[in-house]
Amino acid sequence: MFYLKRKLIKYCYFIVFLLISQQVLAVENVTQKLEAGAVASPDHYGAIAAQEILKKGGNAADAAVATAFALAVTYPEAGNIGGGGFMTLWMDGKPYFIDYREVAPSKADKDMYLDDHKNVIPNLSLYSYKASGVPGTVAGMWAVHQRFGKLSWKEVMAPAIRFANEGFTVDKQLVKRYQEAAELAPANGHFKQYFGAMQAEKVFKQPELGKVLERIANQGSDGFYKGETAKLIAQQMEKNDGLITENDLANYQAKWRAPLVANWQDMQIVTAPPPSSGGVGLIQLLLMKQDLANDFKDVKVNSPQYIHLLAEIEKRVFADRAEYMGDPDFISVPVTELIDTNYLAQRAKQVNPKAISITEQVKPGLDTNREKLQTTHFSIVDKWGNAASNTYTLNGWFGSAVVIEGTGIILNNEMDDFSSKPGVANQFGVVSKDANAIEPNKRPLSSMTPSIFIKNNDVAMVIGTPGGSRIFTSIFQVVTNVFDNHMSLKAAIDAPRYHHQLLPTNLIFIERFQNKVPEDLKDQLKQMGYQFKQQDFSGDIQAIKITDNKPEAVSDIRGRGKSIIVK
Ligand code: DON
Repeated sequence: MFYLKRKLIKYCYFIVFLLISQQVLAVENVTQKLEAGAVASPDHYGAIAAQEILKKGGNAADAAVATAFALAVTYPEAGNIGGGGFMTLWMDGKPYFIDYREVAPSKADKDMYLDDHKNVIPNLSLYSYKASGVPGTVAGMWAVHQRFGKLSWKEVMAPAIRFANEGFTVDKQLVKRYQEAAELAPANGHFKQYFGAMQAEKVFKQPELGKVLERIANQGSDGFYKGETAKLIAQQMEKNDGLITENDLANYQAKWRAPLVANWQDMQIVTAPPPSSGGVGLIQLLLMKQDLANDFKDVKVNSPQYIHLLAEIEKRVFADRAEYMGDPDFISVPVTELIDTNYLAQRAKQVNPKAISITEQVKPGLDTNREKLQTTHFSIVDKWGNAASNTYTLNGWFGSAVVIEGTGIILNNEMDDFSSKPGVANQFGVVSKDANAIEPNKRPLSSMTPSIFIKNNDVAMVIGTPGGSRIFTSIFQVVTNVFDNHMSLKAAIDAPRYHHQLLPTNLIFIERFQNKVPEDLKDQLKQMGYQFKQQDFSGDIQAIKITDNKPEAVSDIRGRGKSIIVK
């Protein structure tokens, strides 16, 4: 009798379990919006980390955290835990933005890169222990996971720990970038000792980094900002005249900010607010191009006239950027005015379709009286229609090329994004002024622009790229290639890109990738008064486009990216 009763209870439990699981499945199916999840990642390992997490039932936020940690291992020239960045998210039909940009150490000061004659000391803000801001990546990923994670923190960190301990196969592009960085690395930076053994097509293991990642997996963000890891960073800093202290690390905070949202065509752009200049820049570019629809009519894409019109718009964006943009916690950035449609319509009217406007006359446009290279991106969507667009960076490839002994952590050189001296250009050739002067705990002005385009409340595109000041002009060209010029996503990304940033005067940057810029195109632009510089933009667009609930993911041919549709 007793045995029968127990059997009956077990049977009841089984029925209840079946009913609940059916219910759960039904709810999942009802809320499933896309045919599949997708990832566009700058390398193969970042993509398979996201794939693994999405397949386990994780959402776009889980997959983004997993990919960010994975790239810190397998894409060490830009993926990082010693740098910072931004993530734009679309979760359950709402936009979010996390700012995990580095901050200046508390001992930093405005003139820290100037000599006694107030001249900028070469390379101090780029390749030295003084070049690093307090890293933000781990705090950023922790905040995203705390708020949106579906799987456990340990589950999302697992792929990265595996790649560190078991190793990954080194790509030849990574070796080339290592060799370039090794030439500039500070002698006391431990860089060659750490990466010297890396060989193309061979497995490279990082047990020291594995240990740090395990500490973070066990202790959360405290595993980085407190205890052993923080001590190792602070000790090496102190020994080498660096500025970052244990207190700086313990005090670091990632910040949720309201993303910038603007209407464009029949979509909303959700993108990066200050301390990025990229979101404002992208919106200004898109809206001014729209205002100039008549001038663009029948103009062939990437013809001399097309490039001239882009250059004219870009000039105005960079004039505003230099004047008004900086960390919103320290200065007031007139964002609303800068993306105001009337303001931009006026600004677009100043574009001269026939000739180059004179550089000195292209001034910042607001009439209010106001006080005065390397990065990587990935894009992810899950089957529920959530999206994560993440750009993070060490600034230059391998940042300051300083590795903290015993940790495998590479430190950023993000301090170079501050204005070392008003009007003196940084490594990207862009100038900024007092708004972007160095102050303790301030975030340097960025151009990173992780963006999501929304149509009828659903994700239409997730996009971003590295490239310093070329970031938002590159995204602008790809987005307009797709939505204005009706190219396929791949063709839009493959197409050549041009860039103008007001200074140097009348100079159009042509990416080195296009080794055959037609001579007659150059000749015609030269006749208008332009000069050219061929340069590696380091553009590496990772984009997902969604049409009729079907995601298409494309990685830029310029990089070693990998895109996967996750069924
Ligand atoms: O935040 C920024 O704008 C720069 N530190 C980004 C650097 C970058 O994109 C370099 N990649 N090519």
